[in-house]
Amino acid sequence: MTNLFFNPVKVISGRGCVGSFDWRSLGKKCMVVCGERSARLSGALDDLKTALSAAGIAVAVFDKVEQNPSVETCFAAGAAAREFKADFIAGIGGGSPLDAAKAAAYFAANAHLNVDTLYDGECKSSPLPVVAIPTTAGTGSEVTQYAVLTYHKIQNKKTLKTPSIFPVAALLDAEYTVTLPQSVTNATAVDALCHAIEGYLSKSATPVSDALAEKAIFYMGRGLRSLADGRLDYNLRERLLCGSMLAGMVISVTGTSFVHSFGYPLTYFEGLSHGEANAYFLSDFLFYSARVAEDKVNRIYRLCGVRSNEEFRSLIEGAVPCDRKFDRDAVMKYSRIGGGGSSVNRGLYEPTPDDVYNMYKKYIV
Ligand SMILES: [Fe+2]
Repeated sequence: MTNLFFNPVKVISGRGCVGSFDWRSLGKKCMVVCGERSARLSGALDDLKTALSAAGIAVAVFDKVEQNPSVETCFAAGAAAREFKADFIAGIGGGSPLDAAKAAAYFAANAHLNVDTLYDGECKSSPLPVVAIPTTAGTGSEVTQYAVLTYHKIQNKKTLKTPSIFPVAALLDAEYTVTLPQSVTNATAVDALCHAIEGYLSKSATPVSDALAEKAIFYMGRGLRSLADGRLDYNLRERLLCGSMLAGMVISVTGTSFVHSFGYPLTYFEGLSHGEANAYFLSDFLFYSARVAEDKVNRIYRLCGVRSNEEFRSLIEGAVPCDRKFDRDAVMKYSRIGGGGSSVNRGLYEPTPDDVYNMYKKYIV
């Protein structure tokens, strides 16, 4: 038996979709979970408050979500939602606030859980419903059952994974991505491309996830070229937002692979954004995967409009300059942590310890 596809998220897109969503169907009290800046800057928080107010729904805002949110922050957001007696949660932002919103919904409904029991404790009650409003085109978190959280105890990220935290709805309004700095637009687009490619070259890929991945790779790969040419208009923004959502659906089936594993230590210890950190390893992922899946890798190149691994690398580095270097001891440590990640061997090609070291060592100063 093969589980081909499951994704229960209602996806709505288009200008003004936050205002026209049926919020009343979710209850009378909403806890908004977001960061301090992008939810406001994008206009999404104002639009949401206006829509909720028109629907007679009380609102509280938890806006303390940091980049790469910690389990502690999500616990605090969940406690705030419980205290407010929220019926549902609306997450606004990039991957960090959306993941935090899902984890907060989980904590809010399960008061017996704490920071140390989140991953292993029993989920006694269904998490609160979550509506996800992305303000970046990259994470795909709006359609996944994952909350990737920083877990200081292991000095790395750790994923809360359960179908119970799939959002009930994702509202995609490309207008909210207009205020993003170009560097963020680029890095998040690379992250989405990673999702699509890692999923496409995963042992868990299915015909359904492959169909979604091919469309996502086409949208994100061609989109990166347009970004490099400075052609960022509204149509491209809509396409990138759709592509990142499709890529999110892909990893909801397949999970990610070693690109993400390798990137996490660069984020945790060096402060690189998630998309930037992934960019350091994506071209190598294709290089190694070609040893076992040449046809699929060549298909990826065609979808992206490039002819070789070198051209693909140029495409990625045109969006995210992978020019940071680190000292040898640090790189050894990162390769140990990254190479030991649980998703390293999900890809069709399983990297040897030498492969892992070789991929990291080019970033030794
Ligand atoms: Fe990612």
